[in-house]
Amino acid sequence: MSALLKVDGLQCFYGVSQVLHGVNLTVNRGEQIALIGRNGMGKTTLLKALTGLLQDRRGAIGFAGASSLNAKPEEIARRGLAYVPEGRGIFGSLSVVENLLMSARPGVSGSRRWTIDRVFEVFPRLHQRRGNGGHQLSGGEQQMLSIGRALMTNPDLILLDEATEGLAPLIAKDIWNTLGIIRDEGIATIVVDKDHRSLSKVADRMVIMSKGEIAFDGSPAALRTDPSILEKHLGV
Ligand SMILES: Nc1ncnc2c1ncn2[C@@H]1O[C@H](COP(=O)(O)OP(=O)(O)OP(=O)(O)O)[C@@H](O)[C@H]1O
Ligand SMILES: [Mg+2]
Repeated sequence: MSALLKVDGLQCFYGVSQVLHGVNLTVNRGEQIALIGRNGMGKTTLLKALTGLLQDRRGAIGFAGASSLNAKPEEIARRGLAYVPEGRGIFGSLSVVENLLMSARPGVSGSRRWTIDRVFEVFPRLHQRRGNGGHQLSGGEQQMLSIGRALMTNPDLILLDEATEGLAPLIAKDIWNTLGIIRDEGIATIVVDKDHRSLSKVADRMVIMSKGEIAFDGSPAALRTDPSILEKHLGV
């Protein structure tokens, strides 16, 4: 497997306050990474630093064969990175179809695998609601639309923050199933969620953040063999 993303000694700052203290993380092509940790440990900050939205950072970030430390968010996105932020970032006044079409573009290698029809196949609910405005959708449908928009960019890596936050269990299950489909398609993901049990069923690797550093990075099986790790870092 080749590394798609390589983060070395990443430090991030909000003004004078340092939030990431030397994060090292490698994501291989097609790998699904679960990113977990207590509130305020730096998960969202790490995702934002990878997208380029957070510019105050030091260290090294290599993505798709180039440094993205000084690149603008649009440039990083064009290299194959899609971001599904917490709160979803869809356009409420536009319809489902419009939301999807406006993010459509070929992938880095020219791939047009993800079309609106393919997204509707994965999310039949979105097809049913295709003419509805973004603001008329339920929370779960909004999350599906947000993931659908990311897929329409034919990305190599999707960053998904708080994948199932606030969603009913049945809808959350749909989202977990979708992550399985995305994985089967060979798209790498970094998924943040509070539900580490569900994450450990779909992820290749579990990464735990604590106080702006990576405290654990290993397989779901490795994490299960030592319950003290979860207890220490998640308090469960
Ligand atoms: N815009 C900001 N300005 C200043 N400090 C911030 C800002 N955003 C986050 N922080 C601080 O940075 C630290 C890491 O926050 P971050 O949002 O990355 O954590 P998180 O792991 O995503 O937490 P949660 O699980 O609650 O989403 C926290 O101490 C937070 O208070
Ligand atoms: Mg967060």
